[in-house]
Amino acid sequence: MPTVLITGANRGLGLEFARQYAADDWKVLATCREPQSADALNALSGNIQVLPLDVSDFLAIETVARILSVEKIDLLLNNAGVIGPHESNFGETNYDAWAEVLRINSQAPLKMAECFVEQVAGSDRKQIVSISSRLGSIAENDDGGQYTYRTSKAALNMVNKSLSIDLADKGITTVVLHPGWAKTDMGGPNAAVEPVDSVTGMRSVIDQLTIAESGQFFSFDGTDIDW
Ligand SMILES: NC(=O)c1ccc[n+]([C@@H]2O[C@H](COP(=O)([O-])OP(=O)(O)OC[C@H]3O[C@@H](n4cnc5c(N)ncnc54)[C@H](OP(=O)(O)O)[C@@H]3O)[C@@H](O)[C@H]2O)c1
Repeated sequence: MPTVLITGANRGLGLEFARQYAADDWKVLATCREPQSADALNALSGNIQVLPLDVSDFLAIETVARILSVEKIDLLLNNAGVIGPHESNFGETNYDAWAEVLRINSQAPLKMAECFVEQVAGSDRKQIVSISSRLGSIAENDDGGQYTYRTSKAALNMVNKSLSIDLADKGITTVVLHPGWAKTDMGGPNAAVEPVDSVTGMRSVIDQLTIAESGQFFSFDGTDIDW
């Protein structure tokens, strides 16, 4: 039975990943900031262990990695993310909030990889997947603005590319995925894609990954996204 470690598993896409992998008989290590109030996650059935983890707390990441040191983690899923303040247009930048968004969206996935690399390397599948966004594509930015979120995901994309080179010797495949505009608290009620379809698509992409594709940026439907 493969094992997945998910950040931000209490709601949105992280919760749907936990639900689908558990239903598919995976062992699910589901982390979230407040397990005691994670009702939907706690109600899922299957082989699920819920652990507290705020990914902006790097000492906490080290602690969880020590607790899980004997696990073989087939798939490390860096899902937790924040959109940041809505005032991220030119002239409205909140620089302190931007720093916090960078810590959660860009730095924490690298810290997770650094702390869990041996558990991933010791598994069968050896995959690290981080949920990025098309908004982090420089090539596809044709309407400007959103400095905070866009830069955080562009930085995550670069983290992913370097990871793919640095961890190749360990046989680890690492990619970034765009989940589509998905109907979650972040995506809002008018979003185009249901979480169940977004996650079904991403799981299919993850399932078919080969190490030759390490470092790449895919949409949930399997198409490539330009950097
Ligand atoms: N929905 C979309 O349309 C869309 C599009 C492109 C990319 N994405 C990306 O997809 C991922 C999941 O987004 P979503 O749509 O599911 O968003 P969401 O519904 O807002 O859920 C975000 C999740 O991240 C968690 N989180 C935030 N900060 C955290 C922290 N410091 N430590 C641990 N967990 C933290 C939240 O936990 P709390 O409940 O504790 O806040 C929540 O579980 C994110 O990386 C997002 O950027 C989403």
